[in-house]
Order: sequence, then C-alpha cells, then structure tokens
Amino acid sequence: MTSLVLGIESSCDDTAAAVVASDRRILSSVVADQSRLHAAFGGVVPEIAARAHTEKLDHAVEAALAEAGVALAEIDAIAVTAGPGLIGGVLSGVMLARGLATGTGVPLVGVNHLAGHALTPRLTDDLAFPYLMLLVSGGHCQFLIVNGPDDFARLGGTIDDAPGEAFDKTARALGLPQPGGPHVEREAAQGDPKRFDFPRPLLGRPGCDMSFSGLKTALMRERDRIVAEKSGLTRQDRADLCAGFQAAVAEVLAQKAARAIDAYLATSPSAPAIAVAGGVAANGAIRAALETVSRDKGVAFTAPPLPLCTDNAAMIAWAGIELLAIGHPGMDPLVARPRWPL
Ligand code: KG4
Ligand code: ZN
Repeated sequence: MTSLVLGIESSCDDTAAAVVASDRRILSSVVADQSRLHAAFGGVVPEIAARAHTEKLDHAVEAALAEAGVALAEIDAIAVTAGPGLIGGVLSGVMLARGLATGTGVPLVGVNHLAGHALTPRLTDDLAFPYLMLLVSGGHCQFLIVNGPDDFARLGGTIDDAPGEAFDKTARALGLPQPGGPHVEREAAQGDPKRFDFPRPLLGRPGCDMSFSGLKTALMRERDRIVAEKSGLTRQDRADLCAGFQAAVAEVLAQKAARAIDAYLATSPSAPAIAVAGGVAANGAIRAALETVSRDKGVAFTAPPLPLCTDNAAMIAWAGIELLAIGHPGMDPLVARPRWPL
C-alpha cells in the first residue's frame, strides 16, 4: 500500500518541507531559501540560520501539506534531518518533527542529510543498488558506493574545503556575489582557462581524496600579483581567473571520479552507474567533465534535476521511505547531531 511521508530539512540555510509518496510521487517540495538574510555577511551565519528556521519551519510544513492537498492526519510517517549540519537548525527541525509525531502518533525517522542526497537518484531515476555517488556541495565532497538505504562505503573525499566552498571563496576574493558558484561559472564562460597555471592538488597521490584549499590560495596569489602590477583587475583578468579555477576543479573531480569508477567496477561489475548530486553538480563544465569520464569508462551517468540536487526535504522524505521499507528505525535514539559521517 502507498504511504505518505512528510520530510523536514533544516541543516544549513534552506528551510524545507515536502510530502512524498512511497510510489515515488513528490506531492510537494517547499524550500525557503535564506540567502538574502546571510548576504551581507558573506556566508551562512549559524545563529541567523537557526532563528530563521525556528520562525519558518512550521509555515514550510503547512505549505507542503497544503500544496500536496493532504491533511496532517493522513501522513503515515515523518522523516527529519537529524544531522550532520549546523546544530541550531538541525535542533529546530528535530523538535518540530518530534512534536508532530507525538501529536499524530506516527513513526518518526531521523535521517542522515548525506544519505538523503545519496538516495535521491532512486527517487528520480529508480536506480538499482549498488551505484557510485559523487556528492559535491558547499559543505561536502565525497565518493560513495551506495549499497543500500543504510549501507554506504566511502571511497574518499576532500581533506579540506568542499568545492562549493572554494567557489564561494573565489567569488568573494574577486568581488562577486554569494553564493559564488553560478557567478564564477558565468565569468568563466568569457575567460581563458589556460592563462593561469593553477595546481591540481593531490592528483599525484593514489586514491580518491581531494584538496581544494590550496587552489583557492593560488588564485588569491595571482589576483594580488595582478593588482600589484596594474593596481586593479580588468574584467578579462577576472574572467580568466574564474576560468582557470573552474578548469582545475573540473579536472581534479573528473580524474578522481575515474579512480573511483575503477575502484567501484572492481567490486561491482554489473550495470554500473555513477550519480552526482549537490549544488556544484549544477556547473556545466564540471558536469561535462564527469560525463566524459563516465562515457570513457562505460558507466551510465545520471544527475537528479537541480531542485533535487540542492538541499530539499523531498530527499529526506524519500530516505525515510527507503529506511522504513527495510524496517530500519533511522537514528535511534533520535538526537540532533552536528557531525554524523555515513
Ligand atoms: O547543495 P547545496 O545547495 O548546499 C549545500 O552546500 O549543502 O550547494 C550549494 C553550493 C554553493 O557553494 C554554491 O556556490 C555551489 O553549490 N554552486 C555552484 C553552482 N551552483 C551552485 N558551484 C559551481 N557552479 C555552479 N553553477
Ligand atoms: Zn546538502
């Protein structure tokens, strides 16, 4: 029988609620973005994020139920992000979900935010286990083999900044608005990726670990050198810096993806597929580089539609559906956790 799950997500700067049916229908997915509140500070301010979640979460839940045309009493379970994330936000989601579950008497499932991202390709594409996943966002960067709803093998990831964070810091260094990724991509389209010789960190090291903070430092050094020589950056300088930076990130991700695919094929030769999710998956150059590597290796490439790649609550509801289907209680006992590796 089809069941309806209410999902709640508040681990970073998106206040989100969604209703998803166990037959993969997304009945609603409401995302209230807080970026306007954080814009003046050049990044997400945890205290402001927590306050905004507390004020907006119940409205998001009401809107998600209304859009789905479903009453709270018709919901069969509630899934909430229990971590990892900014603790104030995670706590407000968990508290609200606990109250709603107690009031209605339905099961409450504490979901790992990263598992939500990693399971989304099964909501949108009905992808069979196991598959390879690259999660690239503002806060995360890792290669995972997804074996089941609660079974993830981590192949490697960033040892410092996530790529989205590096895009955001690059944008800040060049006076572009936040979040920086789309602005850097737009500038890069007008630039020469070969003018600057930016490093490809850790490419020489075996395995799937990556590093992006040195790349950002190299970009700042070039910026300072140009400013010292010409007392300012031209439009073309900025475009060339963005293009060089983006090409370096794309190459590192693609080459490490090739290694991750080899490691995954060694354990799982049947119907191989790689999925990518997270905000950075929106970047055309990075997507194209990953698609080329996948094609060369004979592995199917898939990416959920962008609104389901970035933070949302439909992915949390879906992860709840997957866990309930295998009789998994989710995080037990359910507490808000700032850190929660898969
Ligand atoms: O997944 P997401 O919405 O939130 C989390 O970080 O969990 O990802 C946001 C990140 C930001 O750092 C943003 O700059 C980056 O994704 N991003 C991009 C692009 N669009 C968003 N980075 C590169 N190119 C883009 N087109
Ligand atoms: Zn996320």
